[in-house]
Amino acid sequence: MQVVVDLDTLRANFIKIAAAVKPCAVVAVLKANAYGLGVRPIARALAVAGAARFAVAEVKEAVELAELGLPVHILGSLLDEEIPEALAHGIVLPVTDLGLAQRISAEAVRQGRTACVHFKIDTGMGRLGILAAEAEDVIEASMRLPNLDAEGIYTHFPVAYRSGSVFTEGQIRSFLDLLSRLEARGIHFRLRHMANSDAVNNVPRAFQSPLNAVRTGINLYGCFDIEGQRVMDLRSVLTLRTRLTAVRQLPAGMTIGYGCTYTLPRAMRVGTISAGYADGLPLALSNRGYVLIRGRPCPVLGRVSMDYTTVDMTQVPEACVGDDVVCLGGDGPTAVSVEHWAQLKGTHPYDIICSIGGRVERCYVGTAAGEAEGGVRTVGV
Ligand SMILES: Cc1ncc(COP(=O)(O)O)c(C=O)c1O
Repeated sequence: MQVVVDLDTLRANFIKIAAAVKPCAVVAVLKANAYGLGVRPIARALAVAGAARFAVAEVKEAVELAELGLPVHILGSLLDEEIPEALAHGIVLPVTDLGLAQRISAEAVRQGRTACVHFKIDTGMGRLGILAAEAEDVIEASMRLPNLDAEGIYTHFPVAYRSGSVFTEGQIRSFLDLLSRLEARGIHFRLRHMANSDAVNNVPRAFQSPLNAVRTGINLYGCFDIEGQRVMDLRSVLTLRTRLTAVRQLPAGMTIGYGCTYTLPRAMRVGTISAGYADGLPLALSNRGYVLIRGRPCPVLGRVSMDYTTVDMTQVPEACVGDDVVCLGGDGPTAVSVEHWAQLKGTHPYDIICSIGGRVERCYVGTAAGEAEGGVRTVGV
């Protein structure tokens, strides 16, 4: 089974996003192995498209990307034992409280380096960071520490998919007020950022001056939050595909799969595909979703199991064992979207793409794939 990532579409998406938020810079968010799609080829293709910065969640992820020579941010927080390695690789570090600023500074002095940091402000996410009301004093005290380059300041939105949200407006006000108060104390930041993908589609104020960067993840891959609006015309970069393992004529009355949740109403041609929930097919597709064989929809029969899924082959009498099966992707009105699966599963697109199984081969197509170095497998689809 393969997930095929079209790097040309990825690049085109990046270019559209960059144009939509101009003059803001786009920080490409590539955490969790680029949302499960494979960080190295994706980062390289984005760099060619003009991405100037990346962001991830963990030090291990940051170190892997640092070799591309572009700034790599850690968005979340840092444990003490992670500071030396992150600093040694020149990673852009988050400051979530004064203690962390002090420990980063001390390690930077020890290593004889300057640590580039961004202050993380909690304006309503309730997860990490300095509360906006306390931030001035913490930032001012941090700025007095040696070997710190306070390049940036940022905050994060929990509900930016809701256009006109009073909550989000309150966050913007709180963050901009803080910037003004800091300016009044003579403290300026070169990078000031709030917006994620949702905000870029739903909250224009979140990427206007004095804000000058956005942090974009899910939109790079052409996916959108299902609750918000889509302002940009982006295309999905991924196709999840497998092969038809068996085709059988089964008698009326036979039941299909675990739980016997489907009974054949008549004799039918039934196909078994090599893809199950271990590969990322949601259980919610059971008796509800469909896959594409020879471009035609074949409904899922019974329950999706770990390695296999059973489908109705009535629409494709000519199909045979070994045929390609598109589980996610395809063209035209029958294309299966990440958002459709998210709806069936009652989740969001992040969960769908991050759930593509570890055993699914990551493959890359497009002219950009040729620029990927050894170890990246490319296929001609
Ligand atoms: C702090 C922060 N900024 C930006 C993003 C990117 O979000 P999205 O993928 O919705 O663009 C994330 C991802 O969760 C994040 O944690």
